[in-house]
Amino acid sequence: MINNRITALRAMEILDSRGNPTVRVFVELSDGTMTSASVPSGASTGENEAVELRDNDKKRYGGKGVLKAVANVNEKIAPELTGMHAHDQAAVDYKMIEMDGTPNKSKLGANAILGVSMAVARAASMSAHIPLYEYLGGAGARRIPVPCMNILNGGEHADNSVDIQEFMAVPLGAPNFREGLRYVAETFHILKGLLKSRGLSTGVGDEGGFAPNLGSNEEAIEIIIEAIEKAGYKPGKDISIALDSAASSFSENNRDKYDLKWSGAGKTDSEGLIKMAEEWVSKYPIVLWEDPLAENDWKGFQQFTKRLGDKIEVVGDDIFVTNTNYIARGIKEGTANSSLIKLNQIGTVSETIEAVRMCRDAGWRHFMSHRSGETSDTFLADFAMAMDGGHLKTGSASRSERLAKYNRLLEIEYELGNRALYYWK
Ligand code: PGA
Ligand code: ZN
Repeated sequence: MINNRITALRAMEILDSRGNPTVRVFVELSDGTMTSASVPSGASTGENEAVELRDNDKKRYGGKGVLKAVANVNEKIAPELTGMHAHDQAAVDYKMIEMDGTPNKSKLGANAILGVSMAVARAASMSAHIPLYEYLGGAGARRIPVPCMNILNGGEHADNSVDIQEFMAVPLGAPNFREGLRYVAETFHILKGLLKSRGLSTGVGDEGGFAPNLGSNEEAIEIIIEAIEKAGYKPGKDISIALDSAASSFSENNRDKYDLKWSGAGKTDSEGLIKMAEEWVSKYPIVLWEDPLAENDWKGFQQFTKRLGDKIEVVGDDIFVTNTNYIARGIKEGTANSSLIKLNQIGTVSETIEAVRMCRDAGWRHFMSHRSGETSDTFLADFAMAMDGGHLKTGSASRSERLAKYNRLLEIEYELGNRALYYWK
């Protein structure tokens, strides 16, 4: 019998990259293994995400404290999970789902549950002396994801005049991960110089990309293309572009009416945004577009996918919230051809794996993602490897909570040596 039963679980309140409280969970196993995991937190959240339990005590952190979630781990989850085998991830996760009893984890809190779920997975891998990516993904987990680096931020992640939340540089033409990371990190530095030379701000947004005030959304793409070329790379060949509109954040009715309010471009509808996208996709080397429409604009999404789905990867984030109920509907209705995957949108490692499996079974891609509020935890890097989606987004070439994941992938590539794979599709 493997000697890795859970002997202790405890949680504490720590701060995330925005200085807001989040949950860190510590776990101990009977063989002496001790480790921890920390939970991320989003800003442009989908309305159907699992509930991040906050204290709502205005006297602490403006109500954002997580002491209730911490107490739920210490007082409720720990006694129930003690004695369970750490390698039995599904049993651990489903025990917590059953204890919570709500469809959105609002009783115990998805932040409490996910912290435990991740910490247990990590402890089990350590106890088995297998790297986390291999423990979760098996011997086939050899493909390092292409780093979609968010070098220019807008929307709710920045205080500037750009509506689209994320402009990502995608080094799909690089021979391996470390070269790919170099391509886009160099582009990031060149972009800084270009912004500076035009008297624009080089301050960064929540995910470490620059957040300048620009004349239009299109200007953001054009300056990125200029940076790619100036860095010595060929746009569309070495480095392509991915976008996350996070369109719910500029939708007026959270459905089909929009207001490009930050840029001042004004009001439009689903058709207006789709036409804009068609024009951009024909003009610029765009390979992926996330949340081009709002989370309740299922019809708009379907239309977008019909018209652009054979040219680019159409990713649903807020609309699917890593939840198999919504992904299943999306597959049935042809809403997209890929789903964003965020562990804390659904709240356990096991359910996240199920969401990935559903995408794969339908011939969809999946796109692994961090949150805008992060910690230095590198779980995501190993998890992206294990799920083998071929690409991930975890911010820019600044802010250590973002670099921690990229650096972990460098480490994994080094560890795998010539067994490491790297390719876009
Ligand atoms: P969030 O942003 O973590 O603030 O939700 C990331 C995204 O929209 O993809
Ligand atoms: Zn998104």
